[in-house]
Amino acid sequence: MNPHTAPMRANAQETVCPRMLIVGNWKMNGAMADVEDLASLAVAAGAAPRVEVVVCPPYTLLCMAGHHGLKTGAQDCHQELSGSYTGSVSAPIIKAAGAEYVLVGHSERRSRLAETDGDVRAKAVAAGAAGLIPIVCVGETSAERAAGRTQEVVTRQVRALTGALPRDPILAYEPVWAIGTGRRPTNAEVADTLAFIRSLAGADTGGRGAARLLYGGSVTCENASDLLMVEGVDGLLIGGASLPISRFAAVVAQAHRCSLLGCPATADSNAVIAD
Ligand code: PGA
Repeated sequence: MNPHTAPMRANAQETVCPRMLIVGNWKMNGAMADVEDLASLAVAAGAAPRVEVVVCPPYTLLCMAGHHGLKTGAQDCHQELSGSYTGSVSAPIIKAAGAEYVLVGHSERRSRLAETDGDVRAKAVAAGAAGLIPIVCVGETSAERAAGRTQEVVTRQVRALTGALPRDPILAYEPVWAIGTGRRPTNAEVADTLAFIRSLAGADTGGRGAARLLYGGSVTCENASDLLMVEGVDGLLIGGASLPISRFAAVVAQAHRCSLLGCPATADSNAVIAD
């Protein structure tokens, strides 16, 4: 599809407007100075009521990151709830550190740490058992994309989660080839793949709830608004642009503006703004 013909977010009809979800994945980066800077992100988040902001720092910073009133998430959890797993961190420990979310199935863990679809499923189950909300990452590699296998790959990854996710699952479509590369799919490709994932998630959860779908992969301050206006994008999972905090705060402000543009709530006093 021509990128210029990508479906854009509707600006009419629906009256329930969920907040956009913007998640910052610091990966193996971040220091106390960045945690202190979260005070400014909290101010930006306060000025963006249409956006839910989640910070995913390394484990050691998790407790302190929550001190600014922002929601936090971990970048992974072990699939067992406790036990002799030296060096691992369980979902209950993450929950006790104040986190609400946990990323599972990030491609850097799938590819470099050989995590299987079964591992990802078990981690999502562990997260739910501990009261955390899993954000499950799916997406194809460059070779899979070149072979036209994107839908086949995300189908396998999403089907492996059947019965393992909460009522309203959160899935992040992160094409592996777009992560940290400066490359990204066209808006039309993002819209198509998210629509496909949404149909899978609906079927696999028995249509019980509404999936929230994020896009991730080389999101920047420059392209965030463009991506957020693509039909089906409920938020972003951001790596490189989540640090320094000033960049992340700029994306949060853009998400707030995009949400206002895409939601009739701003024009319709009867509209409902859902959390
Ligand atoms: P990136 O990373 O934004 O640096 O491409 C995204 C991610 O890995 O979640």
